[in-house]
Amino acid sequence: MIEKSCSALLLFGATGDLSRRMLLPSLYALHEDELIGPDLRIVGTARSEHDDAEFREFARLALAEFLPEDRRDDAKLASFLDRLEYQTLDASNVDGFGDLAKKLGDTSCGLSIFLSTAPFLFEPTIEGLRRAGLTHGNVRIGLEKPLGNDLASSTRINDAVAAAFAEEQIFRIDHYLGKETVQNLMALRFANMIFEPLWNSGGIDHVQITVSETVGLEGRKGFYDDTGALRDMVQNHMLQLLALIAMEPPASLDATSIRDEKVKVLRALRPVKAEEMVRGQYRTGAVKGAAVSGYQEDLNEASDTETFVSIKAHVDNWRWTGVPFYLRTGKRLSERRSEIVVEFKPVPHNLFGQRGGRLPANRLVIRLQPEEYVRMQVMAKEPGLDRGGITLREVNLDLSLTTAFAKARRRIAYERLLLDLIEGEQTLFVRRDEVEAQWRWVDGIRKVWDDTGMEAKPYAAGSWGPNAAIALTERDGRSWND
Ligand code: BG6
Repeated sequence: MIEKSCSALLLFGATGDLSRRMLLPSLYALHEDELIGPDLRIVGTARSEHDDAEFREFARLALAEFLPEDRRDDAKLASFLDRLEYQTLDASNVDGFGDLAKKLGDTSCGLSIFLSTAPFLFEPTIEGLRRAGLTHGNVRIGLEKPLGNDLASSTRINDAVAAAFAEEQIFRIDHYLGKETVQNLMALRFANMIFEPLWNSGGIDHVQITVSETVGLEGRKGFYDDTGALRDMVQNHMLQLLALIAMEPPASLDATSIRDEKVKVLRALRPVKAEEMVRGQYRTGAVKGAAVSGYQEDLNEASDTETFVSIKAHVDNWRWTGVPFYLRTGKRLSERRSEIVVEFKPVPHNLFGQRGGRLPANRLVIRLQPEEYVRMQVMAKEPGLDRGGITLREVNLDLSLTTAFAKARRRIAYERLLLDLIEGEQTLFVRRDEVEAQWRWVDGIRKVWDDTGMEAKPYAAGSWGPNAAIALTERDGRSWND
């Protein structure tokens, strides 16, 4: 009998959409580049009945659909599929976990679990794993959202996980942290001398964080309508971006130092007042030239769930006093864009004012996706003899990361996150205290909505959201970077 290897990756929800689109292609890429050990077994599990061969066929089809052309290598594909195994499991029934443990066999060299499951299956799954002996010291568990939908439910889930695993074994996933450009925020801030001396209320006027999407519901009706933009995007991804922009320089790059600094920012978030936020919901309109229906038509029922939210946030600490962080995110907006804009203070004295020179403030634009660039808008004089007065114009100091690193392979966020999970590197995962601080702030916002009966304002699909979101910055004399 062939000895089975004693290290494995266990994928819950192995036949789901995330697995097809992201996890299997990511694991294949790690396999192709020989970044995971040849003896690591990959065991998929889900409710649907399959054997190993059927799961391999499922994976083959998923890879045919989602792997980029230049990633396809028949020999490597075959050896990747050979790694895959499958065990059917009804996670609501703890008894089934015995068979799962049997399939896994010896996991003493290390078991990494990737758990993405419906919220109601969370606690039974943890309990099942515990009873089947799959929570020992050499097991790590990666947890995919949704991990609750408010502080109370998130605490319940975190408590259940903590009863079976130590915090060092728990890897809470926020896939934004796996994006190359998001990690680049730290490099930009802390590997360059020029930004940090100005990176405070003395040098910065305000910060904008936009995560806009053109897609609508994408077949996730039930989940999305119960969740809304605030909990789907702000509670996690946007607050993590904000924390990386606003945190103090950590003393070192280790997971504890970085997460200590992020959590301080999250705890310093000021409760938001009603007049500092806008909820929105898309109506019919046109996105990229194509007519699209409104949210409630997509949903097929009446709903007040927000598909857009904009917030003027404040970080109440020494560095950021008086510097608003304007956040906005939404579905069916004008374009897909994740971007951070840092607008600096105006120069203290406008030398060019008397001669007609207009002097907008410098802006640092960090485009995270779909393009990857860092652009600094600086003022320059338009060439000419200037008889009628000097004309200044904004020009971009342009750093295209796509061009500068054209040869480097771009990896999807889950490649890095899965590899970090397998290797036990926690830096890019969210610690419990961060999640709790995030929920505390978000729960406060939802309470204001409830107390004031704040409704979602309509906006046309394909626009930049409700007019009130534009007014949120304009009334402070500031403008979104559209
Ligand atoms: C997910 C949200 O977390 O992030 C989705 O649930 C959203 O609603 C997605 O579409 C956006 O991720 P990305 O990587 O495409 O920006």
